[in-house]
Amino acid sequence: MIDIDRRGFIASLGGAAAVGLMSHEARADELEDELNRRLQLAQAPAQPPSQATGSRGFPTAAEVDAQITTRSYRRGAGRGFLDTDGDNVARLPELPDAPTFLDFFELRFQHTSNHCLQSANKAMERGVDEEIVLACLLHDLVQVLMRADHGYWGAQLFEPYVPERTTFAIKYHQALRFYSDTDAGYEYPDLYRRIFGEDYVPAPHIQADYAMLRNHRWYDAAREVTVSDLYAFDPDAVVSIDPFLEIVGRHFRQPKEGLGNDGSSVAHMWRTIATPDAPL
Ligand SMILES: [Fe+2]
Ligand SMILES: [Fe+2]
Repeated sequence: MIDIDRRGFIASLGGAAAVGLMSHEARADELEDELNRRLQLAQAPAQPPSQATGSRGFPTAAEVDAQITTRSYRRGAGRGFLDTDGDNVARLPELPDAPTFLDFFELRFQHTSNHCLQSANKAMERGVDEEIVLACLLHDLVQVLMRADHGYWGAQLFEPYVPERTTFAIKYHQALRFYSDTDAGYEYPDLYRRIFGEDYVPAPHIQADYAMLRNHRWYDAAREVTVSDLYAFDPDAVVSIDPFLEIVGRHFRQPKEGLGNDGSSVAHMWRTIATPDAPL
């Protein structure tokens, strides 16, 4: 059994309050990462890192990078394709012949649907317009397919079916997450210091997009997704799609053939989400 310094581990995640705001899944991911790191250290003591050497117990970007070879999967992989606990994956429920967005939401997007519903609830409380409430509802759902660069993948997945401003907000929440905007109510989260390393420098495409966004007329749309994102990790929140059914009905152009069957440029992405057990 591997010992974990509980107090040190919680501190490394940003303290008890920050941990309290994380979903069970996020906490499990972090705990698993920590266990994997300790296991690797126990088996190969010569390998770095021996401890998180950044300030306040956060790892450095180099330490995060050194963890890559301690996992049996790549962190950017879609959540629908692996069980990070190492258990066997479950059989997925059948989708209807002409699946709607709501069918996918209930039967395929369960990895992030709770977080996205919390985010959309927060956006609604904040009184933002429906296109942005929809963006919050959709903003992380694509992580079932791909976690790396998920804002861009998510925008592409929904682009044929939702307003252009909704797509824009989904796409660029990814870049704005890395940049504080105190006036808007967004502070860089400790969770990212933990996940990316405290000295992490965003990739060039993220820096370029941020420079573009600062003077864009839709900056606020993408920023709102990051603000509502921050407060959407309550493990005890009771959420439902019901308050959003009318917004989805008004703004999501559901193809009559069903998502994946409509011949759109992204139909294959929906089919892959529908049938992730297909070997090729
Ligand atoms: Fe996100
Ligand atoms: Fe999110």
